[in-house]
Order: sequence, then structure tokens, then C-alpha cells
Amino acid sequence: MKTISMRILGKMPLVSLCLCVLFWAGDGTSGSRSEVKLAGGLTTPLEGRVGIIYVGSKVCSTCHPENYAGWATTRHSKMIRNPAEPGALVADFSTNPFSFTLKDADLLLGNRFKQRFMKKIGDDYYILPMQWNVATKEWVKYFPKDEWWVSQYPENWQKRPTSKLCDGCHSTGLIGTGTTIIEWNIACEACHGPGARHIEEVLAGEQDPAKIRANIVNPSRLPFDRAVDVCLQCHLSGRPPEGSNFPDRDYPVGYLPGDDLSRYRSPAPSSGREGHESHEFFKDGVSRKNRNQGNDFVQSRMYSRGVRCFDCHNPHSGRYTSMVYKPGNSLCLTCHRSNSPAGPFEDSISGHTHHKPDSPGSLCIECHMPRIGKNAVALESRCHCFDFEFVSPERTVLYDHPNACNRCHQDKTLEWALRALADWSGSQRWRWLKALQELKERPVKETGD
Ligand code: HEC
Ligand code: HEC
Ligand code: HEC
Ligand code: HEC
Ligand code: HEC
Ligand code: HEC
Ligand code: HEC
Ligand code: HEC
Repeated sequence: MKTISMRILGKMPLVSLCLCVLFWAGDGTSGSRSEVKLAGGLTTPLEGRVGIIYVGSKVCSTCHPENYAGWATTRHSKMIRNPAEPGALVADFSTNPFSFTLKDADLLLGNRFKQRFMKKIGDDYYILPMQWNVATKEWVKYFPKDEWWVSQYPENWQKRPTSKLCDGCHSTGLIGTGTTIIEWNIACEACHGPGARHIEEVLAGEQDPAKIRANIVNPSRLPFDRAVDVCLQCHLSGRPPEGSNFPDRDYPVGYLPGDDLSRYRSPAPSSGREGHESHEFFKDGVSRKNRNQGNDFVQSRMYSRGVRCFDCHNPHSGRYTSMVYKPGNSLCLTCHRSNSPAGPFEDSISGHTHHKPDSPGSLCIECHMPRIGKNAVALESRCHCFDFEFVSPERTVLYDHPNACNRCHQDKTLEWALRALADWSGSQRWRWLKALQELKERPVKETGD
């Protein structure tokens, strides 16, 4: 503690300088509303809230250099980048079949599965109608037709501002304020809440950790559902709740870490009508696209037992794929092991997976979070349901969605997979036998995708 505050004193001028350019929204009177001007030319009534003062990640880095350095290695810090930044451009413009050139792209959006391009027109941004798919190295058209909001916007890419449809989840501050992007990318205050008060206290010489902590959110100290909400503000397909002042925005305006997210966002209905597959979900409500990790996860037993996204994902390290704490099976084996109360219940991992220990078929995530959803291309996005039942061949019989087994065994039939499962016995044997019967009575089309 002492060393921190001593070190701070030396940095004081820098910090107070930054505090001068703070953003302030709301007049502090509970329930009152104030008009706030938006960067993108939007004006919105914002519920008056005390203390919505952001400082930006650079200021946090002065006292938390390790968290900053770790975060800077994650994709959260690299979602939106300048095309001139070294390594930022992954699309190959030499093969671009569209009429736009790199000069039309003011900002790059994404880089892992796909890359899109933001063009500034007036004081807002718009997405060029084209996309680069990383896995296939292909250019494809981009123009959303199935999103819930399309009926509210003209069929013209120049009439769909990112400030309303995208930026909330790709920046820091816009969700909380409804009006202002504090910085591009998912930075400290997107997960920890606005930080000015926290810093003021340290600078005022506060020594009691409890008091220093009181004005900054540490998600690990929240009840598990509020903690997961911190991630769900962006990783959940949702809709503006009924009576929302922001019916045309696709992010939970006004939400701050620690809040009950359901006040600001309703979950997307799992399908238009029962028995129908929607843009977002298979018939049974399992996600068929990216960005829906939350919609899947909240249905899982792990969630119901209080497991949180950041029990597996490290927000301050991009060392392993998808920011996981440990690679491969070791992540799952932090809490699971043979014959542990949380399962699996066999004597060895191989005994559970029925594949050789070093086989890809013995990797927990290949059966429990298979790539069955679409991201840039089909079968790319991992399911976050965890329960095998959601991704079993039975689901293909009943709801036509891809299953974990045939994801790898593409040359084999559904019947083959169900028979293998039934032969392996296990607690769900009767389920697989029933599915085999079902298959016999109403054959379905075999789907690999
Ligand atoms: C002037 C120095 C300073 C600055 C700037 C600063 N912090 Fe802190 N922060 C501290 C100190 C001191 C603690 C107390 C350490 C402890 O918990 O014992 C702390 C604790 C925290 C904690 C842990 C709280 C808990 O409940 O465990 C978080 C999270 C945090 N800071 C985030 C931030 C973020 C985000 C920013 C930028 C908005 C920031 N800090 C800026 C000094 C600072
Ligand atoms: C995507 C969300 C997210 C972002 C972005 C993020 N954090 Fe965190 N941070 C968390 C979570 C979740 C925890 C609790 C982790 C745990 O204890 O398991 C945490 C814990 C902390 C802590 C307390 C524990 C520790 O590691 O000392 C500090 C301090 C902190 N973060 C600072 C920062 C700073 C500074 C930044 C920006 C450079 C930042 N965080 C960015 C989610 C985030
Ligand atoms: C403000 C919105 C926002 C918040 C809050 C947020 N994320 Fe993200 N997250 C994103 C976006 C956008 C991406 C895509 C980044 C990219 O591909 O460049 C992403 C990517 C990820 C990835 C994939 C990283 C990779 O390397 O491909 C993981 C894992 C992740 N987030 C987990 C979390 C967890 C866990 C939390 C909560 C502690 C969280 N996110 C909070 C918006 C957010
Ligand atoms: C409700 C939050 C939210 C909104 C709104 C949103 N995104 Fe995202 N976006 C995310 C998250 C979270 C991810 C990363 C997780 C994933 O892809 O599964 C992501 C990923 C992406 C990626 C892929 C990144 C990569 O590295 O492959 C692109 C491109 C993208 N979004 C573009 C858009 C565009 C364009 C819009 C507006 C039309 C938009 N998003 C609206 C949350 C959102
Ligand atoms: C932080 C601890 C933790 C980690 C890490 C963890 N799990 Fe779990 N998991 C649990 C708990 C707790 C349960 C619930 C056990 C129960 O109540 O029976 C569970 C249950 C499960 C179930 C059974 C679900 C059901 O509906 O029956 C599966 C499958 C599972 N986990 C897979 C995984 C996989 C795959 C990984 C690694 C990607 C993993 N887990 C990592 C704690 C964890
Ligand atoms: C080849 C596919 C496959 C792999 C790989 C796999 N599982 Fe499973 N897992 C299943 C199936 C199938 C079930 C359902 C078993 C039943 O009840 O019939 C299951 C069930 C579970 C359950 C629920 C309890 C139980 O045993 O029924 C847990 C927990 C679990 N798996 C964890 C893991 C972990 C951890 C790993 C990695 C070490 C793993 N699984 C790897 C197929 C797999
Ligand atoms: C039990 C562990 C566990 C939990 C809990 C968990 N994830 Fe993941 N997540 C993983 C693993 C493992 C991967 C894939 C890593 C790989 O591909 O090697 C992954 C991948 C991702 C990705 C990358 C996209 C993709 O399709 O691969 C995102 C984004 C993500 N998780 C977000 C979240 C969010 C948000 C939550 C909470 C709602 C969450 N995760 C909960 C283990 C977990
Ligand atoms: C990640 C890819 C992968 C997944 C997922 C997977 N397998 Fe396999 N499977 C393999 C590989 C590779 C082999 C070759 C032998 C080995 O490595 O054990 C194999 C072998 C087999 C065999 C024995 C050889 C044969 O062809 O008759 C059976 C039966 C089998 N798998 C059934 C299943 C079932 C059922 C599931 C779903 C629960 C499943 N596999 C999931 C990759 C996978």
C-alpha cells in the first residue's frame, strides 16, 4: 500500500491532468433526466446517476501497470484499430473484389474470425458492405438482413450508424453513459466501472483498502450472477427491455458493472416461434451464431452452481487461445477429475471419453463445447452450454443442429454415433436408445453443418 501511494505522489501531475478531461453525465439528482450530447450527433435523455466519471485505461496503468500490460496482450484491447497500425490489417486488399479500397476504411473492426471496416461519414461511423473471412481468406458481402433491428433502419449501409448498432460493445463508456465513447476497445472501466472516485480516494491519501475498493468494481467480489452480467453486457444476444428509451440500440444503455443487467437488457427470445430456427438460435434455443456465449452459458449447470466466465477466462492475459487461464484439458481439470463430485464419474479420462488419451477425441472442449455455431463461417463458434446433452446426436435427430461427434466423424452417420454412445453405456444410455428409435420412425436429413 505504502509503496503504491509513494509512487503515486510522483505521478500526481499526470493523474490530475487526466482528471480534468473527465466526462460527467447526470446531475446527480436521483430520477432526474438531463440532455446529453453524443459524439455521433445523438442526443439522449440519460437517467441522472452520480459518479459516472471515466478516466481511461492509461490513467489506470499508472498504478496497475501489470494489469495494463496483461490486458494489452488480449483481443479486448485490439478490437478497433487504425489501419496504419503495424499488424492490424489482416484482410488482403490485393484480392478485394469490391469497389472500396483500404482508403475508405477509417478503422478496422476485429481480426480473429473476420474483419470489417468502419467509414466515417459526418460525425458517425458506418460499416462498409464487405467482410474478410480469416479462416477461408475470402471476401464476402456484409449487409445484415436478419438482425432484430433491421426494420428500424433503411436498407442502406450509410443509414446504419455504428454508434447505435455496434459501438457500445466495442468500446468503453458508451454503454454506461449512452452518449460518449471514452476510448475504443474493451478497456478497464468496461468491466470495473468508472474509476475517477477510486483514484481520487487514493490520491487523497486513503490507506484503508476497504475504502479504496469501495468505489471500484472487482467482479470477483460480486455475487456470481452480477459478476457474469459484467461479461453479458456484451456477450449476450438481447433486446431493449419493454419501455426502453433506446428501442433502436443494440446494447444495454445505462448499465454499469455491479448492476442487475436485466434492467437494461432482455434476453433474445430463443426462436421466433416454437419449432423454428431463428437467425440466432437453433430450434431448441442453443446458439447458432457468435457473440451468444451468455445465452448458452446461463442455461448450463455450471452457471447454476456459480461458475463465472472469468473462472476460465483471464481478462488480463492473452497468452492462450481465447484468454483461457490454462491450455487444453488442464483448464477443465482445475475443477473436474475422474470420480470427482463434479464428474466425470469414470476411473480415468480415457474411460470417460472412450478415445485414446492423446486423441483429439479426448479433449474436453471438443465434446462439451464443440464448434457448432456460425461466426464468419459455419461451424466456427464454440457452444458454451457445456452439458453434452445440448450438443449430442440426439439433438440432431430432434432439432437438426450439428452434434459434437459428427463434427469430427463427418464420414459417419447419426445412427453410428448414437450406437457408439449407447454401447459406451453411461447414465444417459436410455436417451441414446430412444433417439435411435426416433431416428427409425422419422428419418431426418443428415447434417454435417
Ligand atoms: C492512484 C493510484 C491508482 C489508480 C490511478 C488506480 N488505482 Fe486501482 N487501486 C489502487 C490501490 C492503492 C488499490 C488497493 C489495493 C488493494 O486492494 O489492497 C487499488 C485497487 C483496485 C482494484 C481492486 C479492488 C478490489 O476490490 O479488490 C481494482 C479492480 C482497481 N484498483 C482498478 C482500477 C482501475 C480500473 C483503474 C482506472 C480506472 C484504477 N484502478 C486506477 C490504486 C490506483
Ligand atoms: C473484460 C473485463 C476486464 C477488463 C477489460 C479488465 N479487467 Fe481487471 N478484472 C476483471 C475481473 C473479472 C477481475 C477479477 C479476476 C479474478 O479475481 O478472478 C479483475 C481484477 C482486477 C484487479 C484486482 C485483482 C488483481 O489482478 O490485482 C485489478 C487491479 C484490475 N482488474 C485492474 C484492471 C486494469 C487496470 C485494467 C485495464 C488495463 C483491467 N483490469 C481490465 C475484469 C477485467
Ligand atoms: C464492452 C464489451 C465487452 C465486455 C464488457 C466483455 N467483452 Fe469479451 N469481447 C468483446 C468483444 C467486442 C470481443 C471481440 C474482440 C476481438 O475479436 O477483437 C471480445 C472477445 C472476448 C473473448 C475472445 C478473445 C480472443 O482472443 O479471441 C473472450 C474469451 C472474452 N471476450 C471474454 C470476456 C469475459 C470473460 C468478459 C467479462 C469478464 C468479457 N469478455 C467482457 C466485448 C466485451
Ligand atoms: C451486444 C454487443 C455487441 C454488439 C451490439 C455488436 N457486437 Fe460485434 N462483437 C461482440 C462480441 C462480444 C464479439 C466477440 C465474441 C464473438 O464473436 O463470439 C464481437 C465480435 C465482432 C466481430 C469479430 C471480431 C473478430 O476478431 O473476429 C466483428 C467484425 C464485429 N463484432 C462487428 C460488429 C458490427 C459491425 C456490429 C454492428 C452492426 C456489432 N459487431 C455489434 C459484441 C457486439
Ligand atoms: C471453476 C470450476 C470449474 C471449471 C474450471 C470447469 N468446471 Fe465444469 N463444472 C463445475 C461445476 C461446479 C459443475 C456442476 C457439478 C454438479 O453440480 O454436478 C460442473 C459441471 C460440468 C458438466 C456437467 C454439466 C451437466 O449439465 O451435467 C460438464 C459437462 C462440465 N462441467 C464440463 C466442463 C468443461 C468442458 C470444462 C473446461 C472447459 C469445465 N467444465 C471447467 C466446475 C467447473
Ligand atoms: C468423446 C466425447 C467426450 C469427451 C472428449 C469428454 N466428454 Fe464429458 N461427457 C461426454 C458424454 C457423452 C457425457 C454424457 C455421459 C452420459 O451420461 O451418458 C459426458 C458427461 C460429462 C460430465 C457429466 C457427468 C458425467 O460423467 O456424466 C462431465 C462433468 C464431463 N463430461 C466432463 C468432461 C471433462 C472434464 C472432459 C475432459 C477431461 C470430458 N468430459 C471429455 C463426452 C465426452
Ligand atoms: C468452463 C470454462 C469456461 C467458461 C465458464 C466460459 N468459457 Fe468461454 N471459452 C472456454 C474455452 C475452453 C474456450 C475455447 C478455447 C480454445 O478454443 O482453445 C472458450 C472460448 C470463448 C470465446 C471465443 C469464441 C469461440 O467461439 O471460441 C469467447 C468469446 C468466450 N469463450 C466468452 C465467454 C463468456 C462471455 C463466458 C461467460 C458467459 C464464458 N466464455 C464462459 C471456456 C469457458
Ligand atoms: C475432436 C474430434 C473427435 C470428436 C469430437 C469425437 N471423436 Fe471419435 N474419434 C476421433 C479420432 C481421431 C478417432 C481415432 C481413434 C482415437 O484417436 O481414439 C476416433 C475414434 C472413435 C471411435 C472408434 C473408431 C471407429 O471409427 O470406429 C468411435 C466409436 C468414436 N470415435 C465415436 C465417437 C463419438 C460417439 C463421439 C461423440 C461422443 C466422438 N467419437 C467424438 C475423433 C473425435
